[in-house]
Amino acid sequence: TSTRKLLVLPGDGIGPEVMREVAHIAGWLRHHRGLALDIDEDLVGGASLAVHGVPIRDAVIEKAKAADAVLFGSVGDPAWGHVGFDKRPEVAILKLRQALDLFANLRPAQVFDALAEASTLKPEIVRGLDIMIVRETVGGIYFGEPRGIETLPDGSRRGINTEVYTTAEIERVSRVAFDLARARSNRVCSVEKCNVMESGLLWREVVTDLHKREYPDVQLSHMLADNCAMQLVRDPRQFDVIVTGNLFGDLLSDLASMLTGSLGMLPSATLGAVQDDGRRAALYEPIHGSAPDIAGKGIANPLAQILSFAMLLRYSFDREDDAALIEKAVSNVLASGLRTADIMSDGMARVGTEMMGQAVLREMDKLNVTQA
Ligand code: NAD
Ligand code: IPM
Ligand code: MN
Repeated sequence: TSTRKLLVLPGDGIGPEVMREVAHIAGWLRHHRGLALDIDEDLVGGASLAVHGVPIRDAVIEKAKAADAVLFGSVGDPAWGHVGFDKRPEVAILKLRQALDLFANLRPAQVFDALAEASTLKPEIVRGLDIMIVRETVGGIYFGEPRGIETLPDGSRRGINTEVYTTAEIERVSRVAFDLARARSNRVCSVEKCNVMESGLLWREVVTDLHKREYPDVQLSHMLADNCAMQLVRDPRQFDVIVTGNLFGDLLSDLASMLTGSLGMLPSATLGAVQDDGRRAALYEPIHGSAPDIAGKGIANPLAQILSFAMLLRYSFDREDDAALIEKAVSNVLASGLRTADIMSDGMARVGTEMMGQAVLREMDKLNVTQA
């Protein structure tokens, strides 16, 4: 197998802490399973602002374009709260998504059996949960024009953002959702607010047409976003694949994370279009942020970052076996009762970031022996 180019961008806060555990796992895979990686690492977010004065350098964007995949940590640092809007640490991830045209953000929410008790919902509501939220990530109100803050003649100000979606943008993200559904339980729920927003009305029409033309075999339903938030808490297992826009997808995926026990558990993959040469730009990141409230304490849950790396191996490096090995190891560690603070419950053993990472490695060792 050929050497794969991986760009690692740990970022701020807990980003570097949880990324360190992934580095150990990558090293293990290189040693035991012949994974050949050419790893480059660079600064983004507040870490880049501190050294270079910008949240992300053009050179880093070029590196990301040249890489076979990007593994991203998280950006955001209260220390940079005073800088101009276009210089915030968060610009790093927004620019990467745009520059690489990473329009489809896959956010799976799966409940590990051992964690059904860790959810704030009753275990019988979440046990066995397996949903996939497909969030559009380069359009919608995040990027629509006009935008800005204006001063009016009377001296008062107004802030403006615009929700915009084109037919092409809706179709391409919906295709990703329909294709995923075919390999799962074959159901897609499309989410918008067509009752108040024209962009939502177009969204519903386009998804309906596309379904008729190309995916009549998939079961399609539609739901208003506010109802969807409620339904995710009431009966989350009614969903298979959810497809939605940028802002609703952001909110609904944080909500879905709590069904699984913690924001510290959810990985994600953000994919671009498949190119003529078969390549596809891809960035992998946990859905959580830099968690300034716990940064530097060594207590962050590294599993979302580790599971993001597993998704990377599966979708970008064609290493299904290695991805499954990591996921099985994580599942076994949780079954053994080890818990970081965010998923802690009675009778379990509390560990920090590093010990959780080490425990995953030990399980990988054991599983590797069993398989050999
Ligand atoms: P957050 O996701 O950083 O944290 C929310 C809460 O969840 C916090 O209490 C935090 O301690 C907890 N948490 C998050 N990840 C955890 C983990 N792995 N283990 C244990 N607990 C965890 O969201 P926030 O506090 O709203 O935002 C903090 C900063 O991160 C902001 O600057 C925000 O813009 C940024 N952010 C970045 C990304 C990203 O880089 N993709 C995503 C979300 C937020
Ligand atoms: C996420 C984050 C980002 C978003 C921020 C940091 C720009 O919340 O990845 O979910 O809103 O997309
Ligand atoms: Mn978010």
